Amino acid sequence: MCGIVGYYGSENAAPVLLKGLEKLEYRGYDSAGIALLENGNLRVVRKKGRVSELFNVKDMSGKLGIGHTRWATHGAPSETNAHPHVYGRFAVVHNGIIENDFALKEECRSRGEVFSSETDSEVIAHLLEFYYEGNFLTAVKSTVERLKGSYALAILCADCEGIILARKSSPLVVGSGNGGLFAASDISAIAAQGVDIYTLEDGEFALLATEITFFDGNLKRISKEKIEYDAEDETPDKKGYRHFMRKEMAEIPAVLGKSVCDFTAAKYREFYRVLKQTEQIQIVACGTAYHSGLCAKHAIESLCRVPVEVCIASEYRYSNPIVRPYTLALAVSQSGETADTLAAAEIAKSKGAYLVAVTNVPYSTITRLADYVLPTNAGREVAVAATKSFNAQLALLYSIASALDKAKGGAGFFDEILSLPEKVKCAEEACEEVRAWVPHFLGARSVFFLGRGADYATSLEGSLKLKEITYLPSEGYPAGELKHGTLALVDSSTPVVAVLTQKSVADKTMNAVHEVYARGAKVFLITCFEEYTSRKEVTASLLLPECKEEFTPILSVLPLQALAYYVSIARGNNPDKPRNLAKSVTVE
Ligand code: F6R
Repeated sequence: MCGIVGYYGSENAAPVLLKGLEKLEYRGYDSAGIALLENGNLRVVRKKGRVSELFNVKDMSGKLGIGHTRWATHGAPSETNAHPHVYGRFAVVHNGIIENDFALKEECRSRGEVFSSETDSEVIAHLLEFYYEGNFLTAVKSTVERLKGSYALAILCADCEGIILARKSSPLVVGSGNGGLFAASDISAIAAQGVDIYTLEDGEFALLATEITFFDGNLKRISKEKIEYDAEDETPDKKGYRHFMRKEMAEIPAVLGKSVCDFTAAKYREFYRVLKQTEQIQIVACGTAYHSGLCAKHAIESLCRVPVEVCIASEYRYSNPIVRPYTLALAVSQSGETADTLAAAEIAKSKGAYLVAVTNVPYSTITRLADYVLPTNAGREVAVAATKSFNAQLALLYSIASALDKAKGGAGFFDEILSLPEKVKCAEEACEEVRAWVPHFLGARSVFFLGRGADYATSLEGSLKLKEITYLPSEGYPAGELKHGTLALVDSSTPVVAVLTQKSVADKTMNAVHEVYARGAKVFLITCFEEYTSRKEVTASLLLPECKEEFTPILSVLPLQALAYYVSIARGNNPDKPRNLAKSVTVE
């Protein structure tokens, strides 16, 4: 992942770069660094840890600079592995992975060059120095031609007053306004009123000098249209909440009103035509977005009887997948930048599927790849753990199910979908009750989340949320499968959360509750059915509003998100920035 920034303008660069890096910390926070260029002198400061470690460099002079916040891939989080990497007259910051770094480093070593870090990125600075014959731009072109893998690069050369940017499969935007020229991994780092923003495409270059000049892969000048963006949405604040995660959970009921869609407006005609023809659906996604796909599969297959395959994008891309005629591929991605999802989406499209991007980020890479884009409209999500984007994905995917049903001659069920925001509001308010459950989870050796059908999909999401922000080992498990081996792990130190919202299998899930209770486990129940809440096996329960069975995950996930959040803070963690993780996973 990693986040990169660049600035050249009338102000001192260091504070501008630091501000941008802080906004990009969601992309990684293992180390941070900046390089400034003034009168031909390169000065570099790098620190292990968060961007705040760099605050004492705020007063450094220099109007031109680049910066980096790192999520470690090659080499431990340390100062020596921090970017910018400098070799000769070049300083470089990199987001991505250079896959042929080993061979390139051997080549450099054979020339007597010495490396000072364990990173794949340092080799870029060495190649730049090797190819430089007085022309910055051609040195960059020759260098990137040698790179395999992915990169967004911002580069300084001690001989030149400017920054050169290059990209392949990692996002990069540039901006101009407010007396400066800017570059960043995403809009949030540079968004402000009055700054015009442009996206860089794969293979293109940009030079930030007296103005921004764009070049294609052959260094021919090209022109670009600025993009539209909402400056307010791109500069989020916590609005009084202690963490972004809590604020984003509180936004869920309001967000859903913007995510549901009946697809009747004329602008959806093309999508509706595709739905009419669709014979199967493939959903490709990662992590939480994959779980929203699993929930959607349950709803679409049950209500529309159209087969849905949900694929983990990193598996799909290397599996030589079968794509039959009239396949609708839904690439679900909050960020629209997840490398595996992009690759999987590309494969589905190349095999003939009609590719729809379901994404929360306008202008993200997936929007340019897709045949059609459906925005989830959840607003910017800052916390690393996805919450509101998951619920927004569900609202949109359920809306697609309703439109699909109509396209196939049914009546749809949009009225039911329209009632969801109100039900979600009631459920969201009830979620505070799970705070009382927290002490039971603090000393747990492991935690199980059990459910059947759609409840199993929700259990997977509840477990992922708990793992990523509390660091407690946990598993989401199909309730009926537990007895086939995994039950051996359950004892009195294993809290079990049972999700029970599917009436037809409620008693079956209760069988698993009996089994874990008999092994001493405490059971915490999330259900829409009051009759189960007073069972002797249940330590505590949370009652959700009744809802069409196919859509219950949009409600039942709320207490699971809240549980993870409150356990995380009780364990002294920062739920917004869990260790080892980053919000946007732009590497394989
Ligand atoms: C978990 C989480 C991740 C993401 C996954 C996909 O809370 O946020 O599992 O869901 O990395 O990210 P997107 O949706 O941006 O493709």
